[in-house]
Amino acid sequence: MADPKKLRLGVNIDHVATVRNARGGAYPDPLRAARIAEDAGADGITAHLREDRRHISDADIDGLMEVLGVPLNFEMAATDEMQAIALRHRPHAVCIVPEKREERTTEGGLEVAREENKLAHFIAPLRDAGCRVSIFIAADKRQIEAAHRIGAEVIELHTGAYCDAAAEGDKATVASELEALTEMATFAHDLGLEVHAGHGLNYETVKPVAALPEVMELNIGHFLIGEAIFLGLEPAIHEMRRLMDEARV
Ligand code: PXP
Repeated sequence: MADPKKLRLGVNIDHVATVRNARGGAYPDPLRAARIAEDAGADGITAHLREDRRHISDADIDGLMEVLGVPLNFEMAATDEMQAIALRHRPHAVCIVPEKREERTTEGGLEVAREENKLAHFIAPLRDAGCRVSIFIAADKRQIEAAHRIGAEVIELHTGAYCDAAAEGDKATVASELEALTEMATFAHDLGLEVHAGHGLNYETVKPVAALPEVMELNIGHFLIGEAIFLGLEPAIHEMRRLMDEARV
């Protein structure tokens, strides 16, 4: 049986679809990547169906729901269209993310505090349908409290600012971002929320986040798919898993 305390790894396969879509055909197939990730020990697969369908397609989600043996974490914006898709598929988890067409990736966390009523109504049917609702937010007390009040079961802490600072060699910001992630993981856990984290993580940045005892799941995509070009997907995932396990002891 899976150890409920073990840090889970969700492999995000969006960027397999990015490469596929560069040529408009069917290769490389994100479903094949998902199966390899599963065989390599991924505890879940994450896919973000964006409004503009720039990477993952509706057909990819249909396929993932059919073939996956591990849970699907379906990332989506809080729109009626996405809610209808999620309610049709009822994936294990739905992660609500902010989405702006012009952004390159999900740049910031969701502004929950300002949209509390709207989001509370939005997530209620998803919860009723049996999906675990996760909210992707910055390590910010106000947002965490609001996520708790609207009835989310999970928050995913945005690690992008920490990872960007690490890439720039900005040690002071790395330290302050890690401090915020550490404090807010504890704060959210104490409220009864399950804590996940992700965005921008790589072999250099993963360990301090994996070491936070309240964090139960990391969602990692771009780096692993990039590293798969050099190492292959399975070894890339094995190395990430090894570093996560090393950080946890
Ligand atoms: N978690 C969430 C909520 C995301 O939106 C993303 C990016 O799609 C990730 C994790 C994974 O980020 P990355 O691809 O940078 O590893």
